[in-house]
Amino acid sequence: MKTYTFPENFWWGSAASGPQTEGRVSNDGKGENIWDHWYALEPEKFFDQVGPEKTSQVYTKYKEDVQLMKETGHNTFRTSIQWSRLIPEGTGEINQKAVSFYRDYFTELLNNGIEPFVNLYHFDMPLSLQEKGGWLSRETVDAYVSYAAACFELFGDLVKKWFTHNEPIVPVEGGYLYQFHYPNHINMKEAVQVGYHENLASAKAIKAYHEGGHDGEIGIILNLTPSYPRDETNQDDVKAAQIADAFFNRSFLDPAVKGEFPQELIEIVKTLGIMPDIHEGDLELIRENTIDLLGINYYQPRRIKAKETPIDHEHSPMPDDYFDNYDMPNKKMNPYRGWEIYEKGIYDILTNTRENYGNIKCYISENGMGVEGEERFVNSEGMIEDDYRIEFVTDHLKYVHQAIQEGTNCVGYHMWTCMDNWSWTNAYKNRYGFIAVDLAQDGKRTIKKSGRWFKTVSEKNGFDA
Ligand code: NOJ
Repeated sequence: MKTYTFPENFWWGSAASGPQTEGRVSNDGKGENIWDHWYALEPEKFFDQVGPEKTSQVYTKYKEDVQLMKETGHNTFRTSIQWSRLIPEGTGEINQKAVSFYRDYFTELLNNGIEPFVNLYHFDMPLSLQEKGGWLSRETVDAYVSYAAACFELFGDLVKKWFTHNEPIVPVEGGYLYQFHYPNHINMKEAVQVGYHENLASAKAIKAYHEGGHDGEIGIILNLTPSYPRDETNQDDVKAAQIADAFFNRSFLDPAVKGEFPQELIEIVKTLGIMPDIHEGDLELIRENTIDLLGINYYQPRRIKAKETPIDHEHSPMPDDYFDNYDMPNKKMNPYRGWEIYEKGIYDILTNTRENYGNIKCYISENGMGVEGEERFVNSEGMIEDDYRIEFVTDHLKYVHQAIQEGTNCVGYHMWTCMDNWSWTNAYKNRYGFIAVDLAQDGKRTIKKSGRWFKTVSEKNGFDA
């Protein structure tokens, strides 16, 4: 048995997002976003046909929820502002009811000793902007920067930790390569333009924040998936893993922290003749406006091998024209949802940020375990006994602890998520929360065993294991 103690003032908490928790498309003046729209078009694409209206109703239950966060040991909590709630058309008029809601919500958190961390974009493009091209259009970058500046002005007295995006690679992959987000195109040129505009928008928002004289910190949240080659002694496998890393991690990590795009990526994009539309001054702006703080989401790694068939660039190139996924034998799996569990991945990411990214101040902004059919673990008192989640979090935290001991500037850990929530096309298929939400009983909340355990970890600032 060993005692793991974390640095003083460590951030313990969890993360969620506006579109996944607030509920209802149109209450109190909220405008439509791409999820509301896509669900109305193709409800059958969503698990059990449950759409974004049926979320955990935080909009009306936030006071009760903040008490539950307190009971589960939170000293920090992340959510996102819904752009389409605050500015229903994406640009222009501000919805005053949204201002009141977010101010009340953040104040309630602060009054209960929980610092709000706020993300500006969590996959939820306002529909009116998507109709003009969404992230493909430079107009969206400008609209986003105005929206960000409005948020800093309206809530900057309450919020001192801001994030420009959550997992910005996901709208690129989902919306423009692999068809799991609206608008479901498959087009590498568009994917490159979208990724570029998201990076540009982030740098511009950071500039606005710093120039606005606000007294907090601003960063970005990235899902970093370490790419491991099938065989470290095979140069082709190693090269393939490096390319996957450049596409999926460094395309956002490098501009955010170093202010520049990875050379490997630039070369590929140039060779394919799909360079994005870059305006004069953009690259300087990206170089000069890097983040203060990095949020790291980690769930599972990527296993890569060199391509067995030659690369075919002729028709619509895709990132995976450059590598194959490798199905590693005997990998440890989450038995309740087919994802690999590899705890050391979190240590490898943290070591990489220390060694290659100037030991940037960072925290684990998401990590967690999705479970299908979790109600089967309810005990006679009505509590879900999720020992598997306690084990998952403990095993990852041990590696976070080790990285900190070795000098990584990691200042917190947030689990995904606080209460079970709606997860895009998977809806409520996989449950992730410290707190169960019973949809059949008007969203009744019950703390799981992991939530009770997390309180002890937060109070002791560590654990014995
Ligand atoms: C990452 C995303 O930020 C979040 O929206 C999603 O629900 C979780 N991962 C779980 O898949």
